[in-house]
Amino acid sequence: MTLTIGVDVGGTKVAGGVVDDTGTVLVQARRDTPADDVAKTRDVITELVGELAAGRPVQGVGIGAAGWIDASRSTVLFAPNLAWRDEPLREYVSNKVGLPVIVENDANVAAWAEFRYGAARDADDSMVMFTIGTGVGGGIVLGGELLRGAHGIAAELGHMLTVPDGHQCGCGRLGCIEQYASGSALVRFARAAARQSPHRAAGLLELAGGEAEAITGPMVTAAAKSGDPVSTEAFAQVGRWLGTSLADMAQILDPQVLVVGGGVIDAGELLMGPTRRSYAQSLAQRDRLPVAEIRPAELGNRAGVIGAADLARRL
Ligand code: BGC
Ligand code: NA
Ligand code: ZN
Repeated sequence: MTLTIGVDVGGTKVAGGVVDDTGTVLVQARRDTPADDVAKTRDVITELVGELAAGRPVQGVGIGAAGWIDASRSTVLFAPNLAWRDEPLREYVSNKVGLPVIVENDANVAAWAEFRYGAARDADDSMVMFTIGTGVGGGIVLGGELLRGAHGIAAELGHMLTVPDGHQCGCGRLGCIEQYASGSALVRFARAAARQSPHRAAGLLELAGGEAEAITGPMVTAAAKSGDPVSTEAFAQVGRWLGTSLADMAQILDPQVLVVGGGVIDAGELLMGPTRRSYAQSLAQRDRLPVAEIRPAELGNRAGVIGAADLARRL
């Protein structure tokens, strides 16, 4: 049995785990992500890996990071929602911990985990996954392999155009799907509606201490689950936009399975229902032909760790 370590570097948490070759996480550890501090984030990653590797026959390390990774899987070129710019993460961590390291996009590793061990494990050829968090990530598996593209940056699904001249995105473009179907967009929709119709949003505002600006994603989920109309509508908006992008991916790639992951899927049918309806509408006539079904991710916040570790095993 080979053991590898997977690390998932998110905007708020760095999660790591020792994973075996069945995709089981044997030990895990977490740290807060130092805000906007690239050097400290690097050190948190190496400390975490050092702690997890101590006394265990670990053979490699996979790191999933929320950004654009170069073709050699070494450098974070750019991260729309993090401070990383041309960051040689692989070399740094590998030198410090004395193990082979691979750096991969966070959504790619999550997609790989769902393909191997999660919602798409019955698919043997192709799947497309959208991860819905602070940003919108994408991962594409074709012919049983993760699609990386010529320069390593394939499957940046979050930056597909959704609304021409729309909301400003962290990538520099206007109107990306990330600005309409992310967790951040969900909160933006809910806050705007709460400001506009405080009476309708009474249930949600109560959770936020009366302040629209204090509304968070988990509050929108909780309120929607107890029937709050403004929160339910915020999920429906995200689902409507997401469904159109899922349909675009079905049109382009015709994958076996489509997967939607990220914290927002805790809302269950409140998100998946509108997403599926919008998907079917967007496919128009094609909806009558065989087409991929949309499934919620199954591995939750462990997907990053499991997928990164699995990719390290293939180094
Ligand atoms: C980034 C992606 C990342 C996604 C999810 C996007 O803004 O461009 O690289 O996968 O957010 O974290
Ligand atoms: Na990706
Ligand atoms: Zn963008």
